[in-house]
Amino acid sequence: MNNFKPSTPTKTLNKKQPQYKFPFIPISVVVLIVSFLFFYYYFLRPSSFLPVTSKTFKSQSLQCSNQALAIGERFLWYAPNSGFSNQLSEFKNAILVAGILNRTLIVPPVLDHHAVALGSCPKFRVVEPQEIRISVWDNVVELMRGGRYISIAEIIDISSLVSSSLVRVIDLRDFVSIWCGSSLDLACCTDSKMQSSVSSLLKRCGSLLAGALDSADKCVYAVNEDCRTTVWTYHSGDKDGMLDSFQADEKLKMKKNITYVRRRWDIYKTLGPGSEVESSSLLSFGSLFTAPYKNSQLYIDIHESPQDKRFRSLTEKVKYLPFVPEIMGAAKEFANVTIKAPFFCAQLRLLDGQFKNHWKATFHALKQKLEALRQKGLLPINIFIMTDLPGDRWSDTYLGDLVSDSHNYRVYFLAEDDGLVKAAAKKLKAAGYGQRFLPSSDDKVGKKYCSNQELPDILLYVEQAICSCASLGFVGTAGSTIAENIQLLRKYGSCSGQS
Ligand SMILES: *[C@@H]1O[C@H](CO)[C@@H](O)[C@H](O)[C@H]1NC(C)=O
Ligand SMILES: *[C@@H]1O[C@H](CO)[C@@H](O)[C@H](O)[C@H]1NC(C)=O
Ligand SMILES: *[C@@H]1O[C@H](CO)[C@@H](O)[C@H](O)[C@H]1NC(C)=O
Repeated sequence: MNNFKPSTPTKTLNKKQPQYKFPFIPISVVVLIVSFLFFYYYFLRPSSFLPVTSKTFKSQSLQCSNQALAIGERFLWYAPNSGFSNQLSEFKNAILVAGILNRTLIVPPVLDHHAVALGSCPKFRVVEPQEIRISVWDNVVELMRGGRYISIAEIIDISSLVSSSLVRVIDLRDFVSIWCGSSLDLACCTDSKMQSSVSSLLKRCGSLLAGALDSADKCVYAVNEDCRTTVWTYHSGDKDGMLDSFQADEKLKMKKNITYVRRRWDIYKTLGPGSEVESSSLLSFGSLFTAPYKNSQLYIDIHESPQDKRFRSLTEKVKYLPFVPEIMGAAKEFANVTIKAPFFCAQLRLLDGQFKNHWKATFHALKQKLEALRQKGLLPINIFIMTDLPGDRWSDTYLGDLVSDSHNYRVYFLAEDDGLVKAAAKKLKAAGYGQRFLPSSDDKVGKKYCSNQELPDILLYVEQAICSCASLGFVGTAGSTIAENIQLLRKYGSCSGQS
């Protein structure tokens, strides 16, 4: 445990300083004076041209607010990335880690599809944790600005986890209000006089969360170890700091000048109560992505622990987190009202990356399943199709054949502007599952800037839920994480659960 040397952001900054010593001091003085004048002009000058109450900016400082430290709660943040399925699996890992470390999990929004990318752990080519935290923050601000912000807890139902006190959570927007002393809602402010001060406020808050501010050490502990150097374990019985079985091979070591090794560390001993990290108000991880690789795990190797009953029920619950009832309800309605009969579901990923080269195999798997169903006789076979291939490109594919063969098949699909999907999105927005701490916080800070919120795009989730209701069976695309999630929903009988 003692030879674990976390690379804190402070250290990283110190390393660079000597080089800039002489120019650095005068420049920083100039920057200080300029920013003081700036803040004086905007916030301290006793005039009232600001359309927000001064409260919005009151706890503005270089560190997290005193208010943040005074509440004594300890928080956990991480940098979700890639597509939705990946974000969901990281969310599950975050819940586990928050449970182990006894910290309040800050619940992120669903980020734009692939707006933030991690890279490849097996290739030892990943974005630095610091950098990925900053890109996540930038996307969060974009989501607010574009009226597209939706918490992952508004899509995935964690209410039973929260009510059983297995994990404590806070919505990112509320966390930012408390911790940075300014509302994320400011992202929508279009007042040209305030533009630059607002953007510097938001930027500072993002840097604080990322652990990129020098003065923030009492506030933030930034985890800068990632899947290249570290595999987190818990009660594994491994010797702490032992080498993981997966290491960069000689060729890669030469090519990328890799001098480090991958070690296994107990996450509780390293970052939990009793460690030097305990006093930090916020513990900020990079990506929490993991996957099995070459008989090991890429980043997190945590399993049920027989000693710890509380943790055992947490892992049990986290394995399967259902969609919120509005999404399941829409799926059941589609099955009941539109299809009205037993049906088969096909999830076909045909575009994007690896998938565009495997049409033949993907369609072949579907064809075989349908042939088998046809042998059994009940014609026509109802098929629900979810695919990323736009409808106008179906005609020269097997999908076109299915649509035109109305004697044998009846094909169903959903589009984003379908009334059913829109109605569900509206209900979902109204339900407000965001796990908000401060339900009226947005109103309290004066003028509300983000007023034209779009309806969330929930098509992908409703489609997955419909596939979980397909009683004639399911075929997915090999290697697709969406297919894996549907299998999980089916395994846990999510469609037959309470509506
Ligand atoms: C976990 O944290 C909460 C709130 O900070 C505290 O009340 C509780 O005692 C902690 N539990 C353990 C097992 O340390
Ligand atoms: C390889 O990395 C080490 C330490 O990280 C550094 O000192 C050395 O200059 C690097 N070599 C090359 C060829 O980049
Ligand atoms: C679906 O249909 C069944 C039987 O007709 C009915 O009992 C059930 O309430 C319906 N569910 C929904 C969500 O419409």
